[in-house]
Amino acid sequence: MSRRIAVILGGRSSENPISVASAASVIDALERSGNDVVAVQIDREGRWELGTGTKAIEAGERLPGKEIATTLSDVDVVFPVLHGPFGEDGTVQGLLELAGVPYVGAGVLASALCMDKDVFKSVLRDHNIPVTENITLRLGDEPHSPYGFPVFVKPARLGSSVGITKAHDDEELRRGVALAFEHDEKVLVERFVSGIEVEVGVLGNQRPIASLPGEIVVTHNEWYDFEAKYDEGEMDLVVPARITEEQIERAQELAVRAFVASDCEGMARADMFVRDDGEVLVNELNTIPGFTSTSVYARLFEASGIGYSELLQRLADLAVERFERRRLLRY
Ligand SMILES: Nc1ncnc2c1ncn2[C@@H]1O[C@H](COP(=O)(O)OP(=O)(O)OP(=O)(O)O)[C@@H](O)[C@H]1O
Ligand SMILES: [Mg+2]
Repeated sequence: MSRRIAVILGGRSSENPISVASAASVIDALERSGNDVVAVQIDREGRWELGTGTKAIEAGERLPGKEIATTLSDVDVVFPVLHGPFGEDGTVQGLLELAGVPYVGAGVLASALCMDKDVFKSVLRDHNIPVTENITLRLGDEPHSPYGFPVFVKPARLGSSVGITKAHDDEELRRGVALAFEHDEKVLVERFVSGIEVEVGVLGNQRPIASLPGEIVVTHNEWYDFEAKYDEGEMDLVVPARITEEQIERAQELAVRAFVASDCEGMARADMFVRDDGEVLVNELNTIPGFTSTSVYARLFEASGIGYSELLQRLADLAVERFERRRLLRY
């Protein structure tokens, strides 16, 4: 079914270029499937620009700003392809709720919750879903580690490993905490998990399905940092992950349970660990994962029998399904 779809891309966060790359893939595939696509690009300063199709991104095509509001409420579906704060965190989703338009992916609550690694894990713990252990530091708190070393130090609400440090001693911890506080007012100090890093794609609304788990093998760096994520040849994705059949099922089960517990809809990528003792832990959910056709989320579903175009089609269908369903609610 062909639709008129608005793709929102770019955004104020440091993940802006990643979003632009994801969106170029998304727009191209949506157009090939016969959809009519408009691109709504947000720049790093927060300015919104409107164009049509992939050409708009390449040419930096611009149309008058007031058309944006009309366009967003005039399309069949909006697909926010934005990563990190001001895009993946519920802010844009709130705008789309107000505009009264179907949009792809998690709603306001789930987006904000999954963006916040601290509160997200509280909710999962409440559902007896095993998560990576952490303490949370607020502005003014002294850096300390109750877990010895190494530990991971992270801003609570960011992505792409930006601002994250693997600290091996007190000095690195102190510097890591200072760096993380440059990005957020809340910082996690996390127990180091020794094991296999796996990711699972989740797709659906009421009855979400899980992809096969993929194993993240970092080829040169010590951990899956920014460079390992985006530079060519720095990461091998092995699908299915080289874990036992029971661990595969456990990872899929926990990914879906975490998705439901955090109120996600549409899509999410669950980042997990299979610890050396075999226990599967949830690290985080990404409600708008990297979305080029060669990104982990797309490759996981490709290996599970759902190709990129079909994935996009299903996401648009899910957006419309949720919209129609919720329209019947009485407020
Ligand atoms: N507790 C931990 N133990 C071991 N490794 C960890 C731990 N936490 C994070 N890592 C490593 O750091 C990477 C980035 O962590 P995390 O996924 O929490 O950050 P992110 O910036 O939100 O990532 P994303 O790009 O997936 O949004 C992980 O993929 C993993 O390699
Ligand atoms: Mg991650």
